[in-house]
Amino acid sequence: METQITQEDLNQIEAGIRNKYSKVADSPEGQFKYPIGRAGLEALKYDAALIDKLPDEVAASYCGVGNPFSLGAIRRGDWVLDIGCGAGVDTILAAMMTGPEGKAVGVDIVPEMLQRAEANLRMVDLHHVIFQSATGEHLPFPDDHFDVVISNGVINMIPDKDAALSESLRVLKTGGRLMIADQVMAGSIQKNLKDRLSNWFQ
Ligand SMILES: C[S@@+](CC[C@H](N)C(=O)[O-])C[C@H]1O[C@@H](n2cnc3c(N)ncnc32)[C@H](O)[C@@H]1O
Repeated sequence: METQITQEDLNQIEAGIRNKYSKVADSPEGQFKYPIGRAGLEALKYDAALIDKLPDEVAASYCGVGNPFSLGAIRRGDWVLDIGCGAGVDTILAAMMTGPEGKAVGVDIVPEMLQRAEANLRMVDLHHVIFQSATGEHLPFPDDHFDVVISNGVINMIPDKDAALSESLRVLKTGGRLMIADQVMAGSIQKNLKDRLSNWFQ
């Protein structure tokens, strides 16, 4: 039975993520079992006053598995990093919380998602948001840079979870907050790696 992950497996995972999320960038509808769009934001109890400010087209692109903001407050002036920002709804909401004296940066590996995030950003009046291409395993930021790191439904897809978590901790300031919403598998997992790869990003 194969248990060691090979470079070929890693390439297959990355290609699958790019393939799936390039479609999600058009619309998350029909792609996931978990809540999406404005109804998803409401079901996950995001701050109603903030989601009311999102244009419908922006809210429609939301596809998180949980609410990272339920884990703690974002303060005015905070610098926030969103790992795997997708279409950027969580990043934009974080920027509303930091106010213009803060900053929100979203990174993702799928160009179509980053394009959708930029399009979403043009629909809201915020000038302290940056979207850029980067992977959670190698963050292009100095040590001790952010007050808060958030992510929503991303770490489960990253093969090297140790690298993703240690990179998050590296870029966080001392006393910074890591607020992750994600999904974990309960019960037994498929023992054969090839079987696991086939449903890595469902
Ligand atoms: C569930 S979506 C995030 C949704 C987003 N937070 C929102 O507000 O709608 C997951 C994102 O993780 C990204 N992703 C997957 N693997 C990644 C990696 N290694 N590094 C960075 N982003 C990654 C995917 O491209 C996808 O856009």
